Amino acid sequence: MCARNELPCRLIYGNGLTDMYIEKSVVVSEMKGKSNLPGRKMMDRNMEEKIEKLVSELTLEEKIGMIHGDGLFRTKGVERLGIPAVTMSDGPMGVRNEFENARWVAVGNSDDYVTYLPSNSALAATWNRQLAYEAGKVLGEEARARGKDVILAPGINIKRSTLCGRSFEYMSEDPYLTGELAVPLIQGIQTADTAACVKHFALNNQETERLWVEVEVSERALREIYLPAFEKAVKAGKPYSLMGAYNRYKNEHCCESKRLLNGILRKEWGYDGMVVSDWGAVHNTKEAAESGLDIEMSVENNFDEYCMAMPLKEAVENGEIEEAFLDEKVKNILRMLFRLHKMGDEKRKPGAYNTPEHRMTALEAARESVVLLKNDVGKLPLCAEKTKKVLVIGDNGNRLHSNGGGSAEIKALYEISPLMGIRKLLGGNAEIVFAEGYFADDMKSVEDSVNWQADSLENGGGSTGILRNEDAALLEKQARLREEALKLAADESFDMVIFVGGQNHLQDLEGHDRPDMKLPYGQDVLIEDLLSVRPDTVVVIASGSPVEMPWVDKAASLVWHWYAGMEGGTALAEVLFGKINPSGRLPETFPIVYTDCPAHCVGEFPGGEKVKYTEGIYVGYRYYDTKRKKVLFPFGYGLSYTDFAYGNLKAEARDGKIMVFVDITNTGDREGKETVQIYVGKKNSAIDRPSKELCGFIKLSIAPGETKTAAIELEPSAFMYFDEKENTYVTEKGTYQIYAGKSAEDICCETEVSLGLF
Ligand code: BGC
Repeated sequence: MCARNELPCRLIYGNGLTDMYIEKSVVVSEMKGKSNLPGRKMMDRNMEEKIEKLVSELTLEEKIGMIHGDGLFRTKGVERLGIPAVTMSDGPMGVRNEFENARWVAVGNSDDYVTYLPSNSALAATWNRQLAYEAGKVLGEEARARGKDVILAPGINIKRSTLCGRSFEYMSEDPYLTGELAVPLIQGIQTADTAACVKHFALNNQETERLWVEVEVSERALREIYLPAFEKAVKAGKPYSLMGAYNRYKNEHCCESKRLLNGILRKEWGYDGMVVSDWGAVHNTKEAAESGLDIEMSVENNFDEYCMAMPLKEAVENGEIEEAFLDEKVKNILRMLFRLHKMGDEKRKPGAYNTPEHRMTALEAARESVVLLKNDVGKLPLCAEKTKKVLVIGDNGNRLHSNGGGSAEIKALYEISPLMGIRKLLGGNAEIVFAEGYFADDMKSVEDSVNWQADSLENGGGSTGILRNEDAALLEKQARLREEALKLAADESFDMVIFVGGQNHLQDLEGHDRPDMKLPYGQDVLIEDLLSVRPDTVVVIASGSPVEMPWVDKAASLVWHWYAGMEGGTALAEVLFGKINPSGRLPETFPIVYTDCPAHCVGEFPGGEKVKYTEGIYVGYRYYDTKRKKVLFPFGYGLSYTDFAYGNLKAEARDGKIMVFVDITNTGDREGKETVQIYVGKKNSAIDRPSKELCGFIKLSIAPGETKTAAIELEPSAFMYFDEKENTYVTEKGTYQIYAGKSAEDICCETEVSLGLF
């Protein structure tokens, strides 16, 4: 099979290149340098020899101890041979709090507060590879300092439906953007001698029936949409570990899958790191033992009864399963331990947590994640100096989100809410009044149950929307809070009204998909009324996944804020008051209603025992764009307080690669960051393909009046599709359109390039 980035063709056009400085990701070149170090191969050979020797000395019982959980987050080591246990922790937004070894009970000490980073959806909205690397470094260093070997992050599943409860933990609907950010994130984590653990491999795109649902997807969609980010993560990021998924594919559980683990991951991609199961995702001893899985973890504390514990030992002793399968698993685990410098050498870094630098990274990432969606009358940025009296309305203005969401929960050292961010920025000369506006505490979080993680796997392991309560008393309370807020908003002594609503982790939550895309707690009515009373209200929606906005035409100033980490409130206030020029771009399309989403109107979501991905490759903007379907806000969209003009787009061949150049001029009067997006499409293609696909991007900081040339190298995969008959990636010859733009809808210029086969 032809791999995605081996171009089996020659590029024949090119007008000759001018010499130009090409901005490249620092991170990638750093890593390239690292892997080319002289002596690297020799080190690897030595390591492999040591591994072989250790395996030959291990008893069956010792091997069994190494390949299954002996605690909720650790395995057993082998002291007599100097092999330590493997320790793990969630998760994407920081290092999770410490649990007792065998119970889901928080230890409760004061030493497991940590830096709370923006969620992956927020990080993806920065479109900034360097920030992804820095965030990864924080995660890796904190995990290391907390004594962990593996941080169970990043989650890189494709956002197939806007309703997936774990959307906030994932990055994008687009495999290219996901892969481009996952690689530096992984590299950042691993600079700290902590293993990244890319999850959940693969096709884990919903929570409903997550333990059993069988995903039916075409080979082409698998290869073009659901696998590329994992492939790039594995090949370029080189994660020391990877986590399988709960769901099923081709009648195998992903954590026992010969096709996914043995075939694609190990054989095709050459992955030699450690593969851990998701917690409770292993169901059959023989299947798991003979698959590419190395460690079985689960949510119960009957550790000896895990499939890969005593049942496996007995099966080996009875001759039903060959011990050689265990040897392979142990080798992969040892390889990870060597790479972590945990096998007795002195070089392992100690890590660090809760440092000022880490908090700074959290702030920088939060700043670049805020997306300005509307600024129709130029009300934003607000002027701090002229502000004397502000009304902040909305539960999310005052809510802390860090300790929620499921396994991604964090015991944050602190969290600046939007209200605190605004108060901090304005100081004592402005009066700030807060009104709740709606009531969001009507139900206990499912996570309030001590054992929620174990309970969450009962009855198929996930469901759709159990968390809405609309009884009369609640509606009455909502109405009262709304009236109070509206009364205040009508008071003209307020210089401005800022509404901060959205969702919280009762909606953006592991184990539960949302029933629809509506804002909870009667917020649509509140916002509508607020905009009648006070049309210049600045509307801020804080959420991990898109929501319907029936009032959108009336809101002139609209800002999107994610779960943006411990400094999220600081960053939001800085954007609102113009200390920071917003530069976030949507990493996913916001449809008008969820039924517009291809997973719902073409395919199935959430399906039953089986879910059919009938929409195939038409996921996210690939669908809306090709089928010309109107959306609320397109993929890649986001405004700035300045303007950028595009010009002089060129696409040229150099050394068998296509280079794209485009001039970007800041035509406004303040410095800003522009994310230049390059899409490739093929008009009149002989095969069915999306009208265009993201194939490159770069984020440039540009001063007023300045012009910068964005130089972007396209990968061979930019032109490829997966041919199901040939079972390989193929490059169609002919002319391709190269588009440069500000979003999937806002294309500023276009050119062509031709490819010909040998
Ligand atoms: C989640 C994983 C997580 C694991 C350990 C599972 O429920 O799906 O993402 O890493 O638990 O907490």
